[in-house]
Amino acid sequence: MTRPEARSVTEAVAERRELVNQAIDEDLPVARPERLYEASRYLLDAGGKRLRPAVLLLTAEALCDVEPLSVSYHEFPALEGGPVDVMRAAVAIEVIQSFTLIHDDIMDDDDLRRGVPAVHREYDLETAILAGDTLYSKAFEIMLESGAPPERGLDALRMLACTCTRICEGQSFDVEFERRENVGEEEYLEMVELKTAVLYGAAASVPATLLGADDETVKALYRYGIDIGTAFQIQDDVLDLTVPSDVLGKQRGSDLVEGKRTLITLHAREQGVDMDSLIGTDDPEAVSEREIDEAVSAVESTGSIEYARSKAQSLVESGKNELAVLPDNEARSQLEAVADYLIERGY
Ligand code: IPE
Ligand code: IPE
Ligand code: MG
Ligand code: MG
Ligand code: MG
Repeated sequence: MTRPEARSVTEAVAERRELVNQAIDEDLPVARPERLYEASRYLLDAGGKRLRPAVLLLTAEALCDVEPLSVSYHEFPALEGGPVDVMRAAVAIEVIQSFTLIHDDIMDDDDLRRGVPAVHREYDLETAILAGDTLYSKAFEIMLESGAPPERGLDALRMLACTCTRICEGQSFDVEFERRENVGEEEYLEMVELKTAVLYGAAASVPATLLGADDETVKALYRYGIDIGTAFQIQDDVLDLTVPSDVLGKQRGSDLVEGKRTLITLHAREQGVDMDSLIGTDDPEAVSEREIDEAVSAVESTGSIEYARSKAQSLVESGKNELAVLPDNEARSQLEAVADYLIERGY
């Protein structure tokens, strides 16, 4: 029998996205009060790339050395003990992602998300805060249903809780840095690790915890997630400047308007370009494409975008090296390809 052609990384993500979407439907029914649950589902239903759950499911497949998509994620054969519902963990991670986006758009004063109005615009501020809070706690309820042995289930919950705390710490630095001029590269990297990379760290390590892998494997997979998640955020910062809003599904140039500190702006500042003075408005709707284009030309001429890209590239390489703890199989190759994709993607 000939082995089927390996899927491209975008196909591999799309196949898992489909299954994750079905599971979200089951795990988050619209209940009373309907407005709260509709608002909680609104962004999840609007789309999203589902990159983190894809990482989680691929990690489970690589770790247990199963042919991709050959067994049910709801009854996934563990390394030790009975089967585990890793899909519940994948849904929990995506639900946390949606919670952070709803609150992030309030903090960043952004009106557009996943190509639709942000929740606080489609509904109102009160509903958006509550929808975010509801998703936050639902994620724990869902993770609790993994069916893993109690100790492993508890470790996974601990990881989820620590991840959420760290995201809040990271978001707090992110907002604080807007008001500070002298932010250093180390501080930026710490902020990004906290606000973004830890969720990738959780996505890659939680399946290992639930399925009974040893500590060394769990830690290596966590580091994989941290490295690729940091690279992912650097690319997000590049895309904010370079990709039109309709492709991105969120407002181009939002970081410039808000005065966000990114690797690009920190590097440009070192080269003598004052990013804060390039945009003449703090209204995201009022910023013109021409103003953003001029800011992009300025940071291109200082080599700042290139600088950020090369930093992201080296993080991806070190992340991929961590995958040596996994058996050599197709799912592991897909995890390498996901790492590359995170910095090659155009939205
Ligand atoms: C956006 O994440 C939030 C960041 C951490 C930059 P994604 O770009 O993965 O957003 P969705 O989930 O696909 O909408
Ligand atoms: C988001 O960072 C990090 C989160 C924890 C959501 P950004 O503020 O850059 O994300 P986008 O660009 O709005 O998606
Ligand atoms: Mg934002
Ligand atoms: Mg933000
Ligand atoms: Mg961004």
